[in-house]
Order: sequence, then structure tokens, then C-alpha cells
Amino acid sequence: MSVEESKQPWPTKDAMEQVYTNHLWGGKEYDFYSGEGSYVPEIVNPYIDVLTSFLTSFERPLVVCDLGCGDFNVGQELVKYTQKYIAVDIVADLIEYNKTRFKAENLEFHCLDIAKDDLPVADCAIVRQVLQHLSNSEIQSIIGKLSDYKYVILTEHLPEEDFVPNADIISGQGTRLKKGSGVLLLEAPFNLKVKNEKELLSVNVDDGRIVTVFYEVKLDAIQPLVRILKQERGG
Ligand SMILES: C[S@@+](CC[C@H](N)C(=O)[O-])C[C@H]1O[C@@H](n2cnc3c(N)ncnc32)[C@H](O)[C@@H]1O
Repeated sequence: MSVEESKQPWPTKDAMEQVYTNHLWGGKEYDFYSGEGSYVPEIVNPYIDVLTSFLTSFERPLVVCDLGCGDFNVGQELVKYTQKYIAVDIVADLIEYNKTRFKAENLEFHCLDIAKDDLPVADCAIVRQVLQHLSNSEIQSIIGKLSDYKYVILTEHLPEEDFVPNADIISGQGTRLKKGSGVLLLEAPFNLKVKNEKELLSVNVDDGRIVTVFYEVKLDAIQPLVRILKQERGG
């Protein structure tokens, strides 16, 4: 049995709390730090540019839900282009801290586990460098809810070369890169069904690339209804 196989998974909430408490993604000078991917200008600036273009292309500004918003160094730049910006994260202290630092009339923060909890209603979900840290079973449960959004903008850290996607990991600080893998939602075992797909951005980094993809998600009218009925029956 490999070390990975013999590891007992922690609850994701505990793992993410530990990441922030012990500064496992660096940034000891910050109270909360979501990692280099949220700060390095070569990574962050082009992302903010493409997201700004996307969000300002609508006549009626979108309601956006940022799933796994982290320290909000990136999200804070997008709030002004939205009708409403709902930012959620699993780490309660981080959300409380964000509430004191970032204030706008159209901005809300909520502490939610996006794999377990019901998600806020919005036009567009932003999921930036979150799924890469989660196990396949958690990703599967999140995907079930993504089809409630018209648009999904997903950012993932991927290996450089051709790779076998979606190797499973234990949720936590690390990513699939250590297994030479990365998350591709349209591939097995997830097989997300979408109407449209477009790569918006790919930034090369030392150990791969950080890729942002736009999905117009296929709205299966029955799916949200089935989930509501299941919830009402306690299932
Ligand atoms: C690498 S950080 C990225 C933060 C932000 N999206 C960004 O790009 O700057 C990943 C974030 O996802 C959050 N997260 C991980 N699993 C989550 C879950 N199940 N529910 C909500 N947030 C989660 C972590 O707490 C962390 O803040």
C-alpha cells in the first residue's frame, strides 16, 4: 500500500483551515494567503483582464458566485463589474476576515462547503484554483451543482505535457500535479456536459500552466428540480 493510499483523509474544512493557519501556501507576512497563484502579477493580471472583458460584455451585469474565494486578492478586482458578487469559502475565519477588509454594496461573503452545502443562486460561477485541491468525489458533488449556473469560469493548474486527467487525490494543500495529472471536467469520470467551451487564458508557470476555461453549461431543466424534491424528502 502506498503512503497516499494509507493516508486517512481529514475533513476538507480542517485541511483548509490548517493550510491558512500554518501558511502552507506561503505568505507568512499575510494574515491569510491563498498562494502565489493569487498574487504573481504575470498570473493574476491577464486573468483579471479576461474576466473583466467577459463580465463587461453583458448589457445587464451578471450575478456572480465565487466558489472558494480564498483571501480575495483576485476577486476584489471583479466586484465592480457585477450586479452582485457572492464570495464563499470553507474557512470560517477567512470569511470573517474578508468581511472586515472588503466592503461593497453588491458584495456578500458566506462560509460554505461547496461540496456539501446548497450554493447561492447566480448567473455565473467562478471556480479558481479550487478543484485542483479536491478529491474526485468532492469534485463530482460540486459538478452536480454547477449545472444550476448558466456560465462557469474554471481555472486549474495543469501539467505542461499530455497527461492522464483526473487522477484522484486526498483533498488538501496539494494538487494532482504531484501525480502528473490535472482536472479536466469534460473527461471521465466527470464527463460534464456543456453547450459551449472556450479557453480564455493559459499562463505558463515553472511546473505547468494555469488554464482558465469558459463553459456555457447545459441547463438540464429537470436536474435542479430533482435535487429540490430530493432535499424536501430528506434524501
Ligand atoms: C488555492 S485557493 C484559491 C483562492 C481563490 N479562488 C484565488 O484564486 O485566489 C483555494 C480555496 O478554495 C477553498 N476551498 C477548498 N475546498 C473548499 C470547499 N469544499 N468549499 C469551499 N471552499 C473551498 C480553500 O479554503 C481556499 O481558500
